[in-house]
Amino acid sequence: MKAIVTGASGGLGLEFAKLLAADGIDLVLVARSADKLESIAADLRARCNVAVETIAQDLGVFDAAARIVERVPSCDILINNAGFASNGPFDSLPPARLREELLLDVVTLTELTRAYVTGMHERGSGRILNVASTAGFVPGPFAAVYYASKAYVLSFSQALAEELRGSGATVTCLAPGATATGFAERAEMKRTLLFKLPMADAASVAKAGYRAMMAGKDLVIPGLSNKMLALSGRLMPRRAVLWISRKLIEQ
Ligand SMILES: NC(=O)c1ccc[n+]([C@@H]2O[C@H](COP(=O)([O-])OP(=O)(O)OC[C@H]3O[C@@H](n4cnc5c(N)ncnc54)[C@H](OP(=O)(O)O)[C@@H]3O)[C@@H](O)[C@H]2O)c1
Repeated sequence: MKAIVTGASGGLGLEFAKLLAADGIDLVLVARSADKLESIAADLRARCNVAVETIAQDLGVFDAAARIVERVPSCDILINNAGFASNGPFDSLPPARLREELLLDVVTLTELTRAYVTGMHERGSGRILNVASTAGFVPGPFAAVYYASKAYVLSFSQALAEELRGSGATVTCLAPGATATGFAERAEMKRTLLFKLPMADAASVAKAGYRAMMAGKDLVIPGLSNKMLALSGRLMPRRAVLWISRKLIEQ
């Protein structure tokens, strides 16, 4: 069995890679940091006796997915994990950064799924895990593009899971809340209320996603408070949802 993990040089992606390797699954690890990927690969090869290939590729550019598919034509498991957020007033954020965010969080995720799902469907087996966020359940003033991109990932994953039902191939959506990784620092969100509240640890969030994916579940939201947050986005009046969301993210 072969699994592709995007964003495998740290955070949740590294934890997914460890879980897969521990189950004896060969890996293709993708991120930009070639040196980090190589040292993770060496460690997993030595500890778990699995084959590990690394691909240093920026996934926030046009045709990124095609370049991955050229190197790896087929896989049994695809974990679309790489993603980042931009935080601040929408009209202050550099357009190039927003484009990169959409390419990474939405376009490459969709194109990788499109590239590998056909083989899974034909073989009658395969697992796809798309990492969304509790942000996917609510609009996010001051991180508007990120929240909207995760709403896309959630909607896309659930729709595709339904299309594939009964085929043997499954799509799972993981929707974590705030988790201790490099994410908040990259997004310059460390001073937001959201990241001052207690955070989940990356290993337990990844384990919840991994187990749900292997079991072929449609959706997993780790943690009770995150489940409530997701539910509140659907039950509370929209203005109240927007107010809370703003308070959690505005700096
Ligand atoms: N941490 C949270 O609070 C949280 C909450 C909800 C959802 N999530 C989601 O969880 C996923 C994983 O994030 P994380 O928390 O593990 O963040 P992280 O620690 O910042 O890791 C992000 C990973 O994505 C890779 N990456 C970033 N930009 C890339 C690009 N342009 N091309 C290729 N790879 C890229 C990074 O590697 P390189 O820099 O080496 O490329 C890194 O391996 C993301 O989709 C994020 O939106 C995170």
